[in-house]
Amino acid sequence: MTATPSAPMTQDQLKTLVGQAALAYVTPDTVVGVGTGSTVDKFIDALAASGIRIAGAVSSSVRSTERMKALGIAVLEASEVSSLDVYIDGADEIDHQGHMVKGGGAALTREKIVADLAKTFVCIADESKQVEALGRFPLPVEVIPMAAAQITRRFAAMGATARLREGCVTDNSCHILDVTGLRITDPAAFEADVNQWPGVVTVGVFARNKASVCLLGTAEGVKTLTF
Ligand code: 5RP
Repeated sequence: MTATPSAPMTQDQLKTLVGQAALAYVTPDTVVGVGTGSTVDKFIDALAASGIRIAGAVSSSVRSTERMKALGIAVLEASEVSSLDVYIDGADEIDHQGHMVKGGGAALTREKIVADLAKTFVCIADESKQVEALGRFPLPVEVIPMAAAQITRRFAAMGATARLREGCVTDNSCHILDVTGLRITDPAAFEADVNQWPGVVTVGVFARNKASVCLLGTAEGVKTLTF
């Protein structure tokens, strides 16, 4: 009798898989940094269901805070901790060195703040997020509203196109530009440059706060990449 080939896992199932795999990085009775997005939602659900007792979570968004509180996970302010062992978050893109593009969910500024508190950044992502070079996904840039037009012109001068994300106001009352037409060959230099343009709150390249580990959901299961 021939074995029936199993159906390939959906992207949603891969997200569930890596959300559960991230539990291995949670040390009981510590405070955990928690990112934002549909993959992180799977991690939050897995954490709540796991019975692992943690001292609380520092959240990167109103969205994750609300989800955690609804599931009985205590949420602390970033100002209440001086460091975190681990920060667990998704990504829109991750390259082979652990550099990421983030901000598809508009939470990039708080994500970078919480990531900066953590000793280890665990990225959880399905394999569609892995890229050779950053720039395929439109790069989110959080900006002070009055500077949006001039920042758009600066990107145009680089040959890129920045579009205002319609109807999006961030948790910090700012706007998001989504930038296409970039190929980011030196993520650290790009991040440092764009971050100091007047009016830029945060650029969605995470090079300084890159991933330490990536749990990548693939058809063969979870691959652990370390950087
Ligand atoms: C939110 C983010 C997310 O981590 C990123 O957009 C990935 O989201 P998802 O897990 O839903 O694919 O940076 O600002």
